[in-house]
Amino acid sequence: MRIPLDRQSTTPLYRQVEDYLRRGIRSGSLPSETRLPASRTLARDLGLNRLTVETAYAGLEAEGLVYSRQGSGTYVAALPPGLPQTAPAADLPWPRWHQPARPGAHRSNDPAPSDLLLAAGHPDPIDLSGGAGDIRHFPADEFRKVMQGVMRRDDLAALDYGDRRGYTPLRSAIAQVTASQGLALNPEGILVTSGSQQALSLVCQVLLSPGDTVLVEAPTYASALDLFELCGVNTVGIPTDEHGMQVETLEAKIRLHHPRLIYTIPNFSNPTGACLSGARRRQLIALAGQFDIPILEDDFVGDLRYEGRAQPALKALDPGGRVIYVSTFSKMLMPGLRVGFLTADGPVYERLAEAKRVTDLTTSGLVQRALEAYVTIGRYQAFLRRSCQRYRRRRDALVSAIHQHLPSEVCFGPPQGGLFVWLRLPEGVRGDDLLPEACQRGVAFAPGSRFFVDPADGESFIRLNFACQPPEHLQEGVRRLGEVMRNSIR
Ligand SMILES: Cc1ncc(COP(=O)(O)O)c(C=O)c1O
Repeated sequence: MRIPLDRQSTTPLYRQVEDYLRRGIRSGSLPSETRLPASRTLARDLGLNRLTVETAYAGLEAEGLVYSRQGSGTYVAALPPGLPQTAPAADLPWPRWHQPARPGAHRSNDPAPSDLLLAAGHPDPIDLSGGAGDIRHFPADEFRKVMQGVMRRDDLAALDYGDRRGYTPLRSAIAQVTASQGLALNPEGILVTSGSQQALSLVCQVLLSPGDTVLVEAPTYASALDLFELCGVNTVGIPTDEHGMQVETLEAKIRLHHPRLIYTIPNFSNPTGACLSGARRRQLIALAGQFDIPILEDDFVGDLRYEGRAQPALKALDPGGRVIYVSTFSKMLMPGLRVGFLTADGPVYERLAEAKRVTDLTTSGLVQRALEAYVTIGRYQAFLRRSCQRYRRRRDALVSAIHQHLPSEVCFGPPQGGLFVWLRLPEGVRGDDLLPEACQRGVAFAPGSRFFVDPADGESFIRLNFACQPPEHLQEGVRRLGEVMRNSIR
């Protein structure tokens, strides 16, 4: 064990050893039952007298932080109840730079609905607030076998740094997947990223500066708003309806705000589930060309379509270099893989690839190889088909539960795919007010305020995830929600 000691200090060496171990024990870096080094060994390693170490151990033992076991050594004791988990290094306030530099940096501070649900301690909680599919159906066994196969096949090569642009065969496999969805991509223009969140972040790094303005749908993906805020970028919301962004209102906003980027989720939007109509897609591309503004197209669940005809990706309509397309395996497969990708044409691609290199060098090569193998042997496509069938049934179950249990004033449009149903609450009912009571009753949802530039615009909406729970839980969750809503209307 290395303990930093200051031999010039007026603090005696035994106290320095004691203080260091005390901080470790209180902070949890030395958990209970950790065996401390024998005093003789530690004294030798630190160049101290054995008695110095024994004095430090005795001080900790007197406080009840360690205990000695006859003939076995000194062990960290369980923390006495009420002892703080962390101890400040000294009685000093945190340095001033710990505070946000810009006022209004507040977006991410609300507790997550799933944490509120957990804290409420309901014996049978039902969480409809999440942003992904159902973890119980992730193809863990299949993926484990593929992973083992890759380790056997590639051995050390799988554990090296790889190409900053991504594992070449995976980039080809991605091009095959997107081609089957009507988006023909050159693998050379694909950049593998650590989730699509990183792709969004790279675009911000490369294209935006603090003070710039980005146009977003109102509502839009909450963590994109958080990201824009983190980058010091202003966001302006464009109204949406059941056909996505109201592109008709865009030109006036462009002239007013001179945006540097338009961020859109054209398929099964998070949070509304709406799809951008074909006519609006063409109009958006034309406006981006007319005003020379890049479009960031976030296609996070494009493959999860349960019915209806898909519209072409904006990228497929791009005459060249106007759209940066982002997608992910998180929702169609498993979020913990942390594999997403972006594609861009022209010089900006190299700038994004360079930003990727300086951000995290490369996405895990082992996971990329396993994913490539999984996609290539057709497992991904088969899993996707099963997911679509399952999620369609769940969407139907949620829709019928809403009709059965929620007040008739609740408005919503069932989505044709994706993960979410977006509800407008009855007059006077606010999602944020409803949430604590709902959690007490054992159900959580995502309040609408989190998806708007101005949270007040989302007060009367909530988002429900239908993909992450089996039909019987959806029924019961919505029944509980109905009770909470009726109480708040009364
Ligand atoms: C619209 C949208 N885009 C991007 C992401 C980021 O996902 P990931 O980084 O897991 O690919 C999410 C995650 O919820 C999302 O909802």
